[in-house]
Amino acid sequence: MPTSHVPRPTGRTRQTRQTRRTGGAPAALPAPAPPTVYSPESGRSYRLDRLIGKGGFGEVYLATTAPSHGTPTRVCVKISDRMAGWLREAYFADLLAREERALRVFDRFVTLDGGQMRYCLGMEYAEHGDLGAWLGEHGAQSERFVRREIAAILGALDTLHRGQALHRDLTPFNVFVCSGERLKLGDFGIAAHQVSRRGVTADAFNMFHVPNEIAWGRVRRWQKRDDIYQIGLLAAMLLRGDIKGAIDSKDVRNLPCGDHLKEVIHRCLGSRGQRYASATELIAALRHRPKEQKLGRVGSLNGKRVSFTGFLDRPRADAVKAAKRAGAIVQSKPGKSTDVLVRGRPNALQIAGKGGGAKLIQVRRLAAQGHKVTVIGEKQFWRLAAPRRTRKPARRGTKR
Ligand SMILES: Nc1ncnc2c1ncn2[C@@H]1O[C@H](COP(=O)(O)OP(=O)(O)O)[C@@H](O)[C@H]1O
Ligand SMILES: [Mg+2]
Repeated sequence: MPTSHVPRPTGRTRQTRQTRRTGGAPAALPAPAPPTVYSPESGRSYRLDRLIGKGGFGEVYLATTAPSHGTPTRVCVKISDRMAGWLREAYFADLLAREERALRVFDRFVTLDGGQMRYCLGMEYAEHGDLGAWLGEHGAQSERFVRREIAAILGALDTLHRGQALHRDLTPFNVFVCSGERLKLGDFGIAAHQVSRRGVTADAFNMFHVPNEIAWGRVRRWQKRDDIYQIGLLAAMLLRGDIKGAIDSKDVRNLPCGDHLKEVIHRCLGSRGQRYASATELIAALRHRPKEQKLGRVGSLNGKRVSFTGFLDRPRADAVKAAKRAGAIVQSKPGKSTDVLVRGRPNALQIAGKGGGAKLIQVRRLAAQGHKVTVIGEKQFWRLAAPRRTRKPARRGTKR
């Protein structure tokens, strides 16, 4: 839940009854027994051992419960005064009950404490805490770990997305590190179903973990691709081992990972229109490493829509003039109508290495959508753009 929500103070835990001592010298009082909460739903009691988290929802306790089939004895109990977040959490946890990488909720119940309703969830305990805390201790993670764990939590997000639901709060405080250092999604306190493809009103979010267009209020609808933005941010944070510094799409080139992962993260964090539309698309992109782009051939530039990328040996303005002279229509960047991309020497500061300039990435994306753009080298371009010498047709039948 966004940290902007202020939790109400709670006196919500029921103390177990203390035994009263009678007669004799006053002995040192035993430490008060930890409070317990009882679930009328499951008939289980939870001993609240320690407060481990406080947020918009309320309070989270590490708790102990009696051993029973299917429930560990060390669990978490999340307690709130408000029903709305509790309902959502209970519902979405149920929706994801079969997902390995969603925190399991075992018990949902309400207790009445002096006229005050307390909404409780008995849930799986993440032994390494939330991702923010864990990264603070463990620092930067390897690309291998990041790929594996991001792909794993995407599985749970994909189920949510396919059910037309959005998490909306995928911050490092709502992703949990469980045994075996496996990441799981949690805190579904502001998750919501979308009733149309336009998404849901972006009325609750954590300012530091949302795309600029939403933070600035230019876009008012939260969509699946905004969950994807948050996943991209999580991947970048894992690679850097730091959750504080801002990361925008331009910082991606400095991430300590291979070009393909840079390209994928760049697309998560970059312009809204180019972002993966849902978890399904991001999963596919992580799986398929693009092949090295080979240079192609074209017969002529006449009538072709042409775009340029990289450093050319001659000034770009001269190339544009020459292309126009040869009958080409020059475009500033490649799109669905583009026929040819002229590729100069790569810029060392590209987003994702040698093959990872924005225009080449765009050409690969277009190819995936079935629009073929032929990439040609500079040499071929100048050959095609060179003014044709008008050759006299050889006269048939005449001998010299
Ligand atoms: N199951 C859990 N295991 C371990 N720590 C937890 C668990 N649930 C919550 N916490 C801790 O409590 C914090 C707040 O919990 P969260 O579920 O995100 O509630 P809120 O809706 O208040 O943000 C988390 O960031 C985490 O540090
Ligand atoms: Mg939270």
